[in-house]
Amino acid sequence: MSTLKKPADTSEEIHEILRHRWSPRAFDPRPVEAEKLRALFEAARWAASSYNAQPWYYIVATKDDPENFKRVLSCFIEFNQSWAKDAPVVAISVAAMRFPNNNQPNRHAFHDVGQASANLALQATALGLQIHQMAGLSPEKAREVFLIPDDYEAVAGITIGYPGDPASLPGELRKREEAPRERKLLNSFVFTGEWGKPSPIIKAKS
Ligand SMILES: Cc1cc2nc3c(=O)[nH]c(=O)nc-3n(C[C@H](O)[C@H](O)[C@H](O)COP(=O)(O)O)c2cc1C
Repeated sequence: MSTLKKPADTSEEIHEILRHRWSPRAFDPRPVEAEKLRALFEAARWAASSYNAQPWYYIVATKDDPENFKRVLSCFIEFNQSWAKDAPVVAISVAAMRFPNNNQPNRHAFHDVGQASANLALQATALGLQIHQMAGLSPEKAREVFLIPDDYEAVAGITIGYPGDPASLPGELRKREEAPRERKLLNSFVFTGEWGKPSPIIKAKS
């Protein structure tokens, strides 16, 4: 079995953990150690958040709990189910959409859940794991299946595990798994002075 690595081809030097994080669809079937899973959620716990409201929640299930694994999987869209079913751990991130102290809407709830999940992703990479986040889930189904209260909203599906053999994926997905990772250029999204005006901080690369 070959385990794929997909380090980012960066234009500047960045931390190795950031460079090596990527989103596999092929996962090794071996289970993830409980202490490593706890470390991932501990990493999420220490994310920054607006007013320190910590609006993140995770509903998680491991393969050795087939009933709950199936319930989480059932909230993903069919395409994501097709590959996520072989991951050893699945999860759904959930955002509290109001501040607990004053019940006002939290405009940054999804932002902060994203930050927590980014922490989780990087801790995973540091432990030899990877995660794959998914917009492709039904928040309504998640609400129904897990009795998510009003004012909380499912944000993303997540698979967690050790990266596996791309050959375990069907043709088209295997091709995508092995394709190089791509990003837009720095000068297309870092501006100074005016919208759309590349910042002089960024060297023009092309
Ligand atoms: C919020 C979010 C939603 C995503 N939704 C899906 C999805 O529904 N299905 C999927 O296969 N990949 C999904 N992805 C994975 C992205 O396609 C992937 O992160 C992107 O192509 C960059 O690749 P990399 O993470 O390997 O750098 C999602 C990623 C994020 C962060």
